[in-house]
Amino acid sequence: MKTHFETPEEIRYQIWKELGRASQDRHHAWRTPVFATASANGFVNARTVVLRRVDAVAGVLEIYTDRRSEKVADLAHRPRAQFVFWSDRLHWQLRVTVTASVATEGPYVQTLWQSVKQSPAARDYLGAEAPGALLDADRATAAVLSDETHFAVVSGTVIEMDWLELARDNHRRAKLTAETWAWLKP
Ligand SMILES: Cc1cc2nc3c(=O)[nH]c(=O)nc-3n(C[C@H](O)[C@H](O)[C@H](O)COP(=O)(O)O)c2cc1C
Repeated sequence: MKTHFETPEEIRYQIWKELGRASQDRHHAWRTPVFATASANGFVNARTVVLRRVDAVAGVLEIYTDRRSEKVADLAHRPRAQFVFWSDRLHWQLRVTVTASVATEGPYVQTLWQSVKQSPAARDYLGAEAPGALLDADRATAAVLSDETHFAVVSGTVIEMDWLELARDNHRRAKLTAETWAWLKP
């Protein structure tokens, strides 16, 4: 299998290929990126998420979340976010800056919820309390579920990527948008 990619076209193609694989393969290192947002009071909020869907043609990355979570409040205030991926196999770090939108209803969200609902992950979106709500000590391990779903889909449209490849002899770094490519000092 080819592991070294030379040209911007090859690298760009491979980045999207790996992102697509990561959304399908739970063992791919890029399956669980860090997703960072900016809070209204000027702080940064970063957390691990699961990469659920990738559309290379539209340039979109999607995650699922609870609509009451802080990341959703952050995005309502400022719809910008960054994904950070690292793969030890590829020796690639990828930072993806996106414009994010949050969908909580409509046919697309309904279709996804119908399938998530059947899975053990459903409980992640059925909590009676919002993520981050204070719990009494005796409640720390027992989630209270409600009938109401708080399932939300966050779609990130890629603005720019920062790609970094670590290698023993020569690190490489590039900034790329849909139309542009610039090599940077790593
Ligand atoms: C491996 C892993 C995967 C996670 N995946 C998600 C996810 O897909 N969506 C999500 O909302 N939270 C996910 N979480 C929980 C978040 O990291 C975070 O704790 C939670 O969403 C609350 O974040 P917030 O209060 O900043 O919104 C995951 C945590 C771990 C450790």
